[in-house]
Amino acid sequence: RTKFLTVGIDGGAATGKSSTSRRVAAIYKLLHVDTGSHYRALAAGLIAAGVSPESQEAIESYTQKLALDTVIESGSAHIVVDGVRPADEDLRSDAVNANVSKFAAVPAVREALRDYQRSQRELAHQKAFDGLIVEGRDIGSVIFPDADLLFFLEADEATRAKRRAAEGQQDAVAERDKMDATRKTAPLTCPQNAERIDTGSNSLEEVVALIGSRIDAKRIKV
Ligand code: CDP
Ligand code: CDP
Repeated sequence: RTKFLTVGIDGGAATGKSSTSRRVAAIYKLLHVDTGSHYRALAAGLIAAGVSPESQEAIESYTQKLALDTVIESGSAHIVVDGVRPADEDLRSDAVNANVSKFAAVPAVREALRDYQRSQRELAHQKAFDGLIVEGRDIGSVIFPDADLLFFLEADEATRAKRRAAEGQQDAVAERDKMDATRKTAPLTCPQNAERIDTGSNSLEEVVALIGSRIDAKRIKV
């Protein structure tokens, strides 16, 4: 039997977290969990409800009533909020891109997601995956500090801006990173025990191969 592995991928916007995690997940039979999409889902809900990132009370009353669930599709876990799975285009709207970091800095929003995100590990177990790969900003620092493997992806700003523009997205990635790195609660930072990988100079295939070699090494030991 293969050792069940928890793999954490942290990094700034457009560093390649999703593309890398999806590929690795498929090769190693890991459940793929994109925690950024969870923040995007709550931000979309709050925006639709007319709540501003500054109104603490309205945010708290929204988060207290939330019912969160998960559907798995092609090896990826998708959040379901009050019975509704938000559409991908709603998660990547200009309004969400512009406001998600503001909502993600509010402790009540992070608290509302913490246990839900941790519960994805039991879900992966239950559904007979060989582990899970979780991407975000605070996976190594807050959500799964006990992960078997932690990686921190980086790429220069020009490369990241180009990637988003190529996807046809209006997204000020540098601004978002700055907000994420300077907030008080769970700021974006490279966890101490994480391996740094430069995705500006290494191709997707190279990064996937590197992470794969670390997974192989962990599994051989057992
Ligand atoms: O994919 P992209 O790099 O554009 O961002 P994302 O991973 O979808 O995350 C969107 C936003 O959610 C980030 O800019 C953070 O503000 C927030 N986030 C967070 O605070 N903590 C996480 N673990 C994941 C995302
Ligand atoms: O999830 P995150 O926002 O960190 O990035 P992404 O959406 O996975 O990746 C943004 C773009 O960078 C995608 O078009 C990838 O093909 C590209 N890329 C990569 O992911 N990894 C590399 N090593 C090189 C390029």
